Amino acid sequence: MKFNYIEDVSKFEGQKITIRGWLYNQSSKGKIHFLWVRDGTGIIQGVMVKGEVDDLVFGLYDQLTQESSIEVTGTVRKDQRAPGGYELTLSDMKIIQIAQDYPITPKPHGSTFLFDHRHLYLRSKRPHAILKVRNEIIWAIRSYFYQNHFVLIDSPILTGAVGETASTLFETQYLDEGKAYLAQTGQLYLEAAIASFGKVYCFGPTFRAEKSKTRRHLTEFWMIEAEEAFYNNEDNMDLQEDFLIYIVNWVLEKCQNEFKELERDISALEKIKKPFPRISYDEAVERLQKAGSEIQWGSDLGGTDETILTKMFEKPVFVYNYPKACKAFYMKPHPDRKELVLCADLLAPEGYGEIIGGSERNDDYDSLVLRIKEENLPLDAYKWYLELRKYGSVPHSGFGLGVERTVTWICGLSHIREAIPFPRTIYRLYP
Ligand code: 4AD
Ligand code: MG
Repeated sequence: MKFNYIEDVSKFEGQKITIRGWLYNQSSKGKIHFLWVRDGTGIIQGVMVKGEVDDLVFGLYDQLTQESSIEVTGTVRKDQRAPGGYELTLSDMKIIQIAQDYPITPKPHGSTFLFDHRHLYLRSKRPHAILKVRNEIIWAIRSYFYQNHFVLIDSPILTGAVGETASTLFETQYLDEGKAYLAQTGQLYLEAAIASFGKVYCFGPTFRAEKSKTRRHLTEFWMIEAEEAFYNNEDNMDLQEDFLIYIVNWVLEKCQNEFKELERDISALEKIKKPFPRISYDEAVERLQKAGSEIQWGSDLGGTDETILTKMFEKPVFVYNYPKACKAFYMKPHPDRKELVLCADLLAPEGYGEIIGGSERNDDYDSLVLRIKEENLPLDAYKWYLELRKYGSVPHSGFGLGVERTVTWICGLSHIREAIPFPRTIYRLYP
C-alpha cells in the first residue's frame, strides 16, 4: 500500500506515513500551517512548519481550499490535545485537485439546501456518523440471521402481483408482457422458500408510492424480512424481540463515537431489554382514547397515535391482533374473532412508532381465496401463492423491519431522510 488510513495512525507512532484525503479545514499562524485532513476513517491534524518542508511545498498552502483533495506525508506524534490523540508533523504535501467554492461551508444551512447537495453533504460529520450506524445495523442484521441459521433468499424487485396494498404501487411496462410492479415486499416469495429451507430472510429495496409528506415515509426504503415455518404469532414476536435486542447491543458496542457526534442519549437505548410489553389492539385504542386521541375502534393507528402510545413505554411495544380491515390480505384470521387478524406491529419508543410489521399467515386455501376476492385482487396473479397452500401447507409467520425507520430511532433523528444515503420521497428524485 502506498498510503495509510487515519484510523490506523496509532500503530505508526514516531514513523513516517502518507495519508490521502480531503482538506476539512485549515488555519495558519504565518510560519506554521495547520491542515485538518479527513479520509473517511477519521480526521487528523497536520502541522507544517516553515523551514522543515521544502519552501515550494510550504507555499502550496495558499492554494488550498475546503474539500480540495491532497496527499500529505509526515511523522505520527502522540498529542493529547489533538482530536484523535495523534497529529502529523508534515514533511511533504501533494495537491491532487483544488476544489472551487465548495457550497457546504461551516456556517449553518437549511435542510432543503443540504439535501439538494446530498452528493456533497454525505461528507459532513453528521451524515457520516448516521451512515456508519446504518452500516453497523445492517451487519448486525446479517450476523443475527447467519448465526440463527436463516437462509438468505433474494426476492425479485419486478413483480406481477400486489404484495401489500394496491394504493401505493409503482407500475412500469414490462416488455410485451403487460404491467409489472416494483416490489412492496419480498414476503410472498419467502413464503415459498420456507418449504425448502424452514427459516429464511431477504434484504432489499422496496417501493411504495406514498403520496403523504411525513417524517416517516420514503418511496424507496430497505426492508429486512424474515419468514419462519411452524411459528405462530407469539413465536414470531419472541423472535423479533430477540432480533432487535441483538441489533441494539451491537450498535451500543460499536457506535459510541457516532452516538457522541450525534449527541444521541444512549441511556434510552440501554433500557432496551427483554421482555417488551405486548398490548392488544383493543387495549391500544382504549389507552389512546383515554389519552385524548380521536381514534375509533376499527381504524389503523395514525402517526400521532403511535407517538402518544410509545411515549407510555420505555421499551419497544408490540400491538397485536388488529382489525382485518386495516391489514393486508395474507394475514391469518383470528380463530374466535373473525373481525381480527393474528398480527403484531412493533413500535419503537420515544415517539418513533412502527419499525416492524409482522403476522401469522393465512395457510388455508379456501379462506385465502376469499380474502383475495374481498380485496378485489386478481386471483390468477396469486395462482402460485395459493398453490403453496395445496402442497404441504403449514402454519407460518414472518415480519419486516424497515431499516431507515430503525436507523432514525437508533440515531435519534427527527426525519427519515437522514437515514438513507440518497432519499427518495414524494418531492425528491434528485440527486
Ligand atoms: O408493515 P409493512 O407494510 O409490512 C410488510 O411489508 C410485510 N410484508 C412485512 C412482512 O411481514 N414480511 O412494512 C414493514 C416495515 C414497516 O414496519 C416500516 O418499518 C417499513 O417497513 N416501512 C417503511 N419505511 C419507510 N418508508 C415507508 N414508506 C415504509 N413503509 C413501510
Ligand atoms: Mg405496517
